[in-house]
Amino acid sequence: MTDIKITIIDRDGVTHEIDAPTDMNMNLMEVVRSYELAPEGTIGICGGMAMCASCQCYVESDHELPEMSDDEEAMLSEAFNVKENSRLGCQLHISEVMDGLKVELAPEDV
Ligand code: FES
Repeated sequence: MTDIKITIIDRDGVTHEIDAPTDMNMNLMEVVRSYELAPEGTIGICGGMAMCASCQCYVESDHELPEMSDDEEAMLSEAFNVKENSRLGCQLHISEVMDGLKVELAPEDV
């Protein structure tokens, strides 16, 4: 299996069911960008370095995801609109354990 299904609710509340490749070393933020589910310049601002929180999303399904790194935890402790199920999309590398994952994009920081 090389593609998994991910459900992404965009910032307008629209649900998208997309296929994400597990063999291209992509993270969730890059998948959102490649499907243009958030306008250019509003997501992935730091380039995936866990330094901007523009890729924050809420994990709605109960998947066992890899633990947060210290960098991710530190960034989320300073970000806006953080909830218990917040993660940084750029720190979630697409893998088979994420098949069926459902996430909602957090609002843009304003
Ligand atoms: S893209 Fe900046 S924290 Fe994820």
